[in-house]
Amino acid sequence: MSTKRDPSNIEKLASSTAGPAELLGPGYPAARPRRNRKSHWTRRLVAESSLSADDLIWPIFIIDGENTREPVATMPGVDRLSVDLAVEAAAQAADLDIPVIALFPYTEPGLRDERGSEGLNPENLVCTATRAIKRQVPDIGVLCDVALDPYTSHGHDGLMDGNTILNDETLSVLTTQALVQADAGCDIIAPSDMMDGRVGAIRRALEGAGHTDVQIMAYAAKYASAFYGPFRDAVGSSGALKGDKRTYQMDPANALEALREVALDIEEGADMVMVKPGMPYLDIVARVKETFLMPTFAYQVSGEYAMLQAAALNGWLDGERVMMESLLAFKRAGADGVLSYFAKDVAERLRDG
Ligand code: PBG
Repeated sequence: MSTKRDPSNIEKLASSTAGPAELLGPGYPAARPRRNRKSHWTRRLVAESSLSADDLIWPIFIIDGENTREPVATMPGVDRLSVDLAVEAAAQAADLDIPVIALFPYTEPGLRDERGSEGLNPENLVCTATRAIKRQVPDIGVLCDVALDPYTSHGHDGLMDGNTILNDETLSVLTTQALVQADAGCDIIAPSDMMDGRVGAIRRALEGAGHTDVQIMAYAAKYASAFYGPFRDAVGSSGALKGDKRTYQMDPANALEALREVALDIEEGADMVMVKPGMPYLDIVARVKETFLMPTFAYQVSGEYAMLQAAALNGWLDGERVMMESLLAFKRAGADGVLSYFAKDVAERLRDG
């Protein structure tokens, strides 16, 4: 193979109007992509995406009691917190510049019923925690999930008739749940139930009640995923769940359907949309962002957290590096932010440089 420096090339250069670059020809070695990677400063200079605390939403689990912290066995490093400790966690998150925390309740089995009534109780754990956090940490946003599964004896997100999840009957329960949460001070209502029409029903109810500034972050493209397993342990619904959620959550085979789901939720009044799970669905995140240009979020769900933590605890992966890499990957895919159980650790890492 002749190199570009051989004498015949020099002659060609002398006798032609071609410049040196042309003589080098297209591609290598004129182009050496490694030049831009040669040191830390230039890598920083050309980086296309970046991660900051502003991109983080931290989900936390609430339990009854006081000064109580209970580890979630399948999510090492994640604890269920009583309301007073949740307030402390919110204060820490605010100090770390995390903009939003998301609240999920562990409901005692005795409080669960067929209709998820505890979800409509203004004194339930989520509403109590919301009020306490808004009072004591006013500068952090509070996001509340809307769905019945933490409250139902059957573990499903909607009302049931036999084995059928009822859509339209569930909507009125969900709107009441959303109103109760908004009344408690919730800033962002996040319907995760995947009933058809729920975003519109909730939006109408919020407008009707004067909650015109309450945002809706729709779990717009939510897949029927096995990656939710540890979350169901954390909220105590895994033992209860009968069957699966495939008649309402999406088929992992589908991408175009995700775009239709997102389009509907935007039409119905969603301010922000979410894709869930996260890492196995980055293609969906990218397409949703490119198609709708809306604030787009991804949920790095419990199973994704558990996978990375399990490998890290075994010494099989560098836990801190895969944590940072996985979060940055969401940003590269086009997400504006990520719900992640790593949020606090990531924010600490970003602060400490
Ligand atoms: C409730 C809900 C679930 C998650 C968030 N909201 C579980 C489910 O749909 O079964 C999963 C979150 C996670 O796995 O981290 N509808």
